[in-house]
Amino acid sequence: MNTIQTTDQHMMKAFGRIPLVETQGKNATCTDENGKTYIDFGSGIGCNVLGWGNEAWVEAVCGQVKKLQHACNYYYTQPQAEFVELLCKTTGFSRVFLGNSGAEANECAIKVARKYSSDKYGKNRGTIITLQNSFHGRTLATLAATGQDGFHQYFYPFPEGFAFAKANDLDDLKSKLDGTVCAVMMELVQGEGGVMALDKDYVQAVAKLCEEQDILLMIDEVQTGGGRMGTFLAQELFGITANVTTLAKAIGGGLPIGACLVDEKCADVITPGTHGSTFGGNPVVCAGAVAVMKQVTAEGFLDSVKEKAAYLRSELAKIPEIAALSGIGMMIGITLKSKDAHDVMVKANDAGLLVLTAKEKVRLLPPLTITKEEMDAGLAILRDVLA
Ligand SMILES: Cc1ncc(COP(=O)(O)O)c(C=O)c1O
Repeated sequence: MNTIQTTDQHMMKAFGRIPLVETQGKNATCTDENGKTYIDFGSGIGCNVLGWGNEAWVEAVCGQVKKLQHACNYYYTQPQAEFVELLCKTTGFSRVFLGNSGAEANECAIKVARKYSSDKYGKNRGTIITLQNSFHGRTLATLAATGQDGFHQYFYPFPEGFAFAKANDLDDLKSKLDGTVCAVMMELVQGEGGVMALDKDYVQAVAKLCEEQDILLMIDEVQTGGGRMGTFLAQELFGITANVTTLAKAIGGGLPIGACLVDEKCADVITPGTHGSTFGGNPVVCAGAVAVMKQVTAEGFLDSVKEKAAYLRSELAKIPEIAALSGIGMMIGITLKSKDAHDVMVKANDAGLLVLTAKEKVRLLPPLTITKEEMDAGLAILRDVLA
């Protein structure tokens, strides 16, 4: 049996897969088992921010794996120390908890919010408001937090304590403040929900309301964070600072990581024994994450992301089949005039271009290191597929 048949026979069928076996990659170009090349406009759903085979990242990861591949969190490691210091200095947050995925980072955020409130106000203040159309992960609590009915099936009973407000509707959010609310959690650009940026005024009004009522503002930056917006965090563009922020995907550069960052107000909420993770903060993952942080925060890098995003967007806007573009920076939603997004994804793939979808849109999350030549090659394929 070949790779596809063996995988399909033995793995649970959780994913609708495309019959492509990726074998090797360099920056935004990868090769399949037959030697065919593909331009990558997806970066493994936003994870390979430095592309494939980034030299400094590979050296950091391989160097660390030769020295010490794992240490339990009762002890300290230098890569973990260096990474959390860089993360706090870059973002201004006070403390970090490290897990292995975006969902785990959000689980930590949910626990922080409820314990913050329980420590200060006692029981019965554990509700978290999230937004309709949001996506926060696949664990039971983060599924329950996700504001889409389609995700609230089969796996009953779901954890309680989530309420859903309409995005960009402050009155609707206010109507949900019944005295039991400890936090509001939202993505500033809803990714899986269709690459929809929230209104800046709305986000700022929510931040103000949260501050007035000592409700924690928690921003899920699992997809937006780590440089994709042309800023390290999306919240910089919205002129707010959250109490809690979650990151994953990009900051690992392709290895599994999740980070929950808290401000000074929440710095001491998690105490020994109240949260944990065996692999969270693994030294190999952290060594790679340090390499990501150093490159993404190096002078000029985020400006180059903005320039690449502007170039891609201006070229995409010229394609007649494209009706509209959404999102911010290198997180791009494409509304098509007549074609089906899933069909386009499959055809693009056959033609040598990797793209994603989000709801009815084609979604692009290119590696931030993509070159002009790679962008042009990918655009040429997309133009042909959409013609
Ligand atoms: C905004 C957001 N939050 C959370 C998650 C879940 O992350 P993970 O798949 O790493 O658990 C995702 C994944 O796409 C996401 O886009």
